[in-house]
Amino acid sequence: MISRGTLLRIVLTTAAVIAAAVPAFAGPSDDDCLACHGDSGLKTDQGRPLYVDSAALGASIHGEAGIGCVDCHADLKAFEDFPHAPKLKPVDCASCHEEASAAVRESIHGRPHDGDKPIIVQCKDCHGAHDIRPAKNMLSHTAAMNIPDTCLACHLERVQTKRGQGFAALYKESDHYRALALAGLSLSATCVSCHGGHSVHPVDDPQSRVSRLNIIRTCGTCHAGIEKDYLEGVHGKDYAKDILDVPVCTDCHSEHDIRSPENLGSGVYATKVAAVCSRCHDDERLARQYGLQTSRLKTFSASYHGTASKFGEVKVANCSSCHGHHGIRPSSDPLSSIHPANLATTCGACHPGAGENFSKGKIHVVSEKTENRWAYTVKIIYIVVIAGLISVFLAFIAADLYRRMRTRWRH
Ligand code: HEC
Ligand code: HEC
Ligand code: HEC
Ligand code: HEC
Ligand code: HEC
Ligand code: HEC
Ligand code: HEC
Ligand code: HEC
Ligand code: HEC
Ligand code: HEC
Ligand code: HEC
Repeated sequence: MISRGTLLRIVLTTAAVIAAAVPAFAGPSDDDCLACHGDSGLKTDQGRPLYVDSAALGASIHGEAGIGCVDCHADLKAFEDFPHAPKLKPVDCASCHEEASAAVRESIHGRPHDGDKPIIVQCKDCHGAHDIRPAKNMLSHTAAMNIPDTCLACHLERVQTKRGQGFAALYKESDHYRALALAGLSLSATCVSCHGGHSVHPVDDPQSRVSRLNIIRTCGTCHAGIEKDYLEGVHGKDYAKDILDVPVCTDCHSEHDIRSPENLGSGVYATKVAAVCSRCHDDERLARQYGLQTSRLKTFSASYHGTASKFGEVKVANCSSCHGHHGIRPSSDPLSSIHPANLATTCGACHPGAGENFSKGKIHVVSEKTENRWAYTVKIIYIVVIAGLISVFLAFIAADLYRRMRTRWRH
């Protein structure tokens, strides 16, 4: 006979053994999900494939970190009774990446925009879903080499911005892209070096890395020596005082299709520099405001250098051959390439043996009468002599004609 006490003990012990053997329900495992989603033929009724490549997921950063299906597809976390509902909540990356999500929410990509079908950019548009890797991994969608295609998936055609379709794609014609794609230089500039990855703002927003306020710093992160030269020059000194009428890198080099100055397509190719500088230096408003001399293009064009340059000659001097390009200084500055004491060296770079006298001739001859008395006097003598010669010649012809006619009338 078993006593009631013993029976109770047996029942309790059995229950404990069973409880220990069957653990509390911990949510579905990856294998539970892959029982269906590991089938490469699984599709929705509309034919959208639902196959999940568990090897790819395993090689992703999340696979490596031991994140399971339901850590992301969180509404199936406590689910037991398959099949599950056909529609699931979108994955909320913010539940683990709050900082990144906040930055994207405040960017232009996180806000709805005008238009019939506003596109809100999601994490998966840039990172993918099951194959997410850190940016330093070459296979990542956010690796430097792959960034242009990741961004251009939308910015090639899908999205309209002010400068029009194809503006962003001009990047692919730049030396930055050539260096990245052909030379494999992952340190070259990509969309993200200039615009940011999460904190992308409209280009004229003061927060944007490419706004006029910030562009020098942005290019200067890589071109540090040029940033320094620029800030020491006449343009850069004003820029540092927040005067934004002076040129910034992109005014001279353009934004996306930046090329070496030796490339015919560059905005600063030798024969194009004059047009770049003159946009401002022949501008009456700027001239009045900053007390600048105008007619720079006209006077340059009238010079030997300017004429030859117009015919495509690249060896003659352009504005920057004499003035420099990044650290341009006014002629009054003893360090300026056009300070009277330095002109012989400046001209001598191309005119070997150019002495002080050679370099003294005015380059920008606005009015010869006041600016270059000697040339003016010679010109006046020229005009007088030529006018005199023509008058004498005409008088001679007239006299000759008169003589011939008189002879004919006589006969
Ligand atoms: C019994 C088979 C089965 C199992 C097990 C299963 N699924 Fe599914 N799953 C489906 C089917 C079928 C669909 C397509 C439903 C439809 O659109 O008709 C689907 C759709 C989905 C979708 C797309 C939902 C949407 O909104 O488009 C996700 C995400 C998903 N499953 C995740 C999971 C996860 C995570 C697990 C494991 C917790 C899991 N599934 C387990 C059969 C299954
Ligand atoms: C790092 C988070 C993450 C993990 C881990 C993850 N997924 Fe997903 N999954 C996503 C995202 C993001 C999407 C895109 C749809 C969305 O935003 O909800 C997605 C989409 C899906 C879809 C729908 C495919 C489609 O084209 O609509 C299925 C099915 C799915 N996941 C199943 C799984 C299964 C099964 C696992 C585990 C083996 C898993 N997921 C693990 C983030 C994840
Ligand atoms: C417009 C493209 C884009 C979108 C949208 C985007 N990311 Fe990123 N993300 C990047 C790039 C590019 C990097 C690489 C780091 C860098 O160079 O800035 C990155 C890096 C990261 C990193 C690692 C570095 C860090 O900041 O911790 C995390 C985590 C991350 N993103 C999460 C997210 C999440 C979560 C979302 C959605 C809320 C998201 N990203 C949306 C482009 C994007
Ligand atoms: C359950 C939490 C969780 C969710 C949800 C989640 N992640 Fe992660 N994520 C992690 C962990 C953990 C790591 C690995 C951290 C590490 O090793 O630095 C990681 C790493 C990353 C990285 C690489 C970070 C780096 O150092 O470069 C990116 C990018 C990323 N996640 C993006 C996403 C995106 C996009 C989503 C949504 C589709 C997402 N994550 C959803 C937990 C999560
Ligand atoms: C070397 C720096 C640099 C790189 C690299 C770069 N951008 Fe830009 N981007 C700029 C600057 C500067 C502007 C501002 C133009 C302006 O002020 O109108 C700009 C403007 C834009 C605009 C706004 C155009 C508009 O219509 O107003 C978009 C969109 C854009 N870039 C996308 C991209 C994409 C996508 C890539 C990569 C394929 C890229 N950018 C690469 C510097 C860069
Ligand atoms: C899923 C599509 C999508 C992807 C991917 C994407 N963008 Fe955008 N981007 C947009 C949309 C939509 C806008 C807002 C356009 C508007 O309304 O002006 C925008 C706006 C911008 C702007 C501001 C343009 C302006 O008007 O000043 C810049 C800069 C930009 N994106 C750069 C990037 C960069 C860099 C990447 C890659 C890291 C990227 N985008 C990836 C869709 C995308
Ligand atoms: C992330 C770093 C980085 C940033 C940011 C960057 N550049 Fe560059 N840039 C490079 C590298 C690297 C090269 C060298 C490419 C080559 O010729 O191999 C280069 C080349 C150039 C060249 C061609 C030089 C030559 O002689 O071939 C010009 C011009 C230039 N960059 C201007 C700019 C301007 C203007 C900006 C800002 C709008 C900028 N860069 C932003 C890294 C950068
Ligand atoms: C006023 C116009 C102007 C501005 C502003 C300007 N550049 Fe230049 N840049 C030039 C010219 C002209 C050349 C070509 C000089 C030559 O033929 O060697 C040049 C050449 C370059 C080169 C090629 C290497 C070299 O020095 O010859 C790089 C790189 C460059 N610039 C980057 C920048 C960056 C970065 C900024 C902004 C910090 C900038 N530039 C601002 C006009 C400008
Ligand atoms: C975006 C307009 C802009 C462009 C482009 C520009 N400049 Fe200037 N430049 C200015 C302004 C504004 C000043 C006046 C700065 C001051 O003196 O406060 C100035 C000053 C100067 C000065 C000093 C003038 C003086 O009388 O002190 C010289 C020299 C000069 N620039 C040469 C050039 C050359 C050469 C180029 C082309 C390579 C060029 N600039 C392109 C706007 C421009
Ligand atoms: C062959 C050399 C040379 C070329 C080419 C040249 N300049 Fe000059 N520039 C000078 C010299 C020398 C001065 C100072 C004496 C003078 O005013 O003639 C000067 C003066 C100036 C000044 C007044 C600056 C000051 O501090 O006095 C500006 C502005 C200027 N040039 C702009 C330009 C522009 C813009 C171009 C191209 C369209 C250009 N220059 C082409 C040599 C040159
Ligand atoms: C970038 C090179 C370069 C610089 C700098 C330069 N020149 Fe020239 N210049 C030329 C070339 C090339 C010719 C064509 C004739 C030749 O080969 O001598 C020329 C022709 C001339 C001519 C007319 C033809 C002649 O030989 O008499 C004069 C005058 C002249 N330069 C004066 C100057 C003065 C003054 C300076 C300095 C303020 C200067 N140049 C700086 C390249 C330059």
